[in-house]
Amino acid sequence: MSKVTLTPQDVASPVLIRAFTDNGNIRSVVADSELAALVSAGRVVILKGAFAPETMFDLRRAVVRWAKTTSPFPHGTSPNAHPNLNYHRIDDGQIVSSLQHIFHQNCFNDLGALTGDIGRLARSVAELMRDLQNRVAGTNFDFDLAGLRTKVLRYPRGGGYLSEHQHPLEPQRLGLITSLSRLSDDFEKGGTTFRTPFGFVDTNESHDIGDIIIFRYDLVHAVAPVDEEQAIDWKAESGKWSMLLELRATHRLSTAKV
Ligand SMILES: [Fe+2]
Repeated sequence: MSKVTLTPQDVASPVLIRAFTDNGNIRSVVADSELAALVSAGRVVILKGAFAPETMFDLRRAVVRWAKTTSPFPHGTSPNAHPNLNYHRIDDGQIVSSLQHIFHQNCFNDLGALTGDIGRLARSVAELMRDLQNRVAGTNFDFDLAGLRTKVLRYPRGGGYLSEHQHPLEPQRLGLITSLSRLSDDFEKGGTTFRTPFGFVDTNESHDIGDIIIFRYDLVHAVAPVDEEQAIDWKAESGKWSMLLELRATHRLSTAKV
């Protein structure tokens, strides 16, 4: 983690914009072009209420059920050799990684292969996110081997985190992070942070369940440790849950900031 000391002048606020799902698309009260302008200037935008909380809870519970009935991917081999595999794995921070982290990752390389509730919910939420991403970024990515995959991450209370890093701006241009956690109920402290041209942005207070963060993909970002004073319970459902879309080609190009 960076040791840069920040003063109050260096702190900026995210731009909160009311959003909703309309006719099979996520819409906000401002035009897509305005969202794009804010994000490319380096503002962190949070689309408030893009998804209903009940949908997020349903998706989360479906992911937990799926992970309970699916053998975890073993440590010591790379999941990159299995580009079609849906897998999950607990990364407890013991294994050294180029991007240090503690989280339970659920990686959906093949949304179409998921059956039942998890398939229905993950496809529907991921598809709405993909449409939003493509509209605002002016891209045309799909869920396939040359394009996007979906991850649902749980950062447990007791210190789940992701160290500071950044991605190349092109070709993904922006990142989306959907929250599947209810603020104060699922965790208290910790959250996604950004270094922006306007100052340091901490989204912990404003990124609630069903909200989507949109950020320029080359902004340095991290997840601050979640409720560090507690003990980790890998079986609990609490903690900070995030769903994101990841372009496979840029995954390997993410770089840590130290
Ligand atoms: Fe990232």
